[in-house]
Amino acid sequence: MLFWKRIHCCPPWLKRLSRTFVSPCFTTGFVFLVFLLFMLLMLSSYSWFPRKLVNEDNLKLHNIRVFKGKKSNINNSAWIAKNMIYSSSHEKPQDKTSQSTQRLLQIMPMGQLRAASQGVQFYDYIINEPMKCQTHIPFLILLIAATPQHLDARQAIRQTWGNENVIPGVQVVRLFLLGRHTQQTFDIEQAITRESMQYHDIIQQEYLDTYNNLTTKTLMGMNWVATYCPHAHYVMKTDTDMFVNTEYLINKLLKPDLPPRTNYFTGSIMKGYAPNRNKDSKWYMPPDLYPGDMYPVFCSGTGYVFSGELAEKIFKITLTVKHLPLEDVYIGICLNKLGIKPVPPPSPSDFNHWRVAYSDCMYNRIVTSHDFRPHELVRYWNQLQQNRHTCA
Ligand SMILES: *[C@@H]1O[C@H](CO)[C@@H](O)[C@H](O)[C@H]1NC(C)=O
Ligand SMILES: *[C@@H]1O[C@H](CO)[C@@H](O)[C@H](O)[C@H]1NC(C)=O
Repeated sequence: MLFWKRIHCCPPWLKRLSRTFVSPCFTTGFVFLVFLLFMLLMLSSYSWFPRKLVNEDNLKLHNIRVFKGKKSNINNSAWIAKNMIYSSSHEKPQDKTSQSTQRLLQIMPMGQLRAASQGVQFYDYIINEPMKCQTHIPFLILLIAATPQHLDARQAIRQTWGNENVIPGVQVVRLFLLGRHTQQTFDIEQAITRESMQYHDIIQQEYLDTYNNLTTKTLMGMNWVATYCPHAHYVMKTDTDMFVNTEYLINKLLKPDLPPRTNYFTGSIMKGYAPNRNKDSKWYMPPDLYPGDMYPVFCSGTGYVFSGELAEKIFKITLTVKHLPLEDVYIGICLNKLGIKPVPPPSPSDFNHWRVAYSDCMYNRIVTSHDFRPHELVRYWNQLQQNRHTCA
């Protein structure tokens, strides 16, 4: 560069001059370079600035990788100390994850977090939708536990009860909850990425998508609501083999005209259930995980509905309650700990964790019915849309 300057920047009279005296062009170039280097150093090294620029009072913890690390086991204060970064609060978080972490730190003070989260595992997002609630506060979020390979089930739900525009003027957000497919192949991964790019209604984390990880899946949904959509009025957690009459749920049960309820949890109420101790059962509960003789009241995981602010409370309490594989039982235990009693729905026939025999007028006034295959969903949904006006 110096060489270039010497050859090109000097007019002929300067060249002549430089033969007799010191080259002025060389000197100018050198001074300019030194100045550039100095500026670079100033800009690149923040610590060069006097400390006063950072207001110590505004120092905030953000970027503890608690809700980020794959399988981070956060019971260790040294681990936490190692991973925390102080930064001034006027600085924008660098990415969505640290934003979500910041939010969760707000709901969970440091000391509590350290004490509470014994052995709890957190997983990275593979696919996330952090912007879903940027522009509108949804009235209802549908959290639908899905399995990676069942694209047909998701398609059927998008066309039917999961249609976000089911009621004009009422904001509905649909999210499918996915883990990592047990036989993950490049094809499945690609298909899900494509699907996600088309519909923007999938969130997926690193845990294995198995029946026994259903609690993890539900907590992913709770965490998502608490982080990205804490002001949603209501949340429903349900499954892909469900028929959900979203219109009835919104208009007759939740009622957008009323002020949103708080501490509200409803569904198909399961009362007086004992842990299943048969090792071959799908619902087996090892005595060392749950020694009690009875479960507290819980709502069937086929479909329960709760007020949006509860997502945060439930997620927080799960940091202190040992995880159990049966997600609906587990959420019941957490509610019990929070002192919140599930409220029976207006009619006992509203939520059904079995398949209700189809009739237009019956399906016109229920919220859930269980055990549907995708093509059945489409068929019955369309039939209901055509005929429900005939029901009183
Ligand atoms: C963290 O948990 C492990 C095993 O659960 C235990 O051995 C270790 O002592 C714990 N560390 C702290 C600091 O509590
Ligand atoms: C749950 O997911 C984790 C992480 O992928 C995996 O290690 C574990 O085996 C899964 N648990 C069950 C019961 O499938």
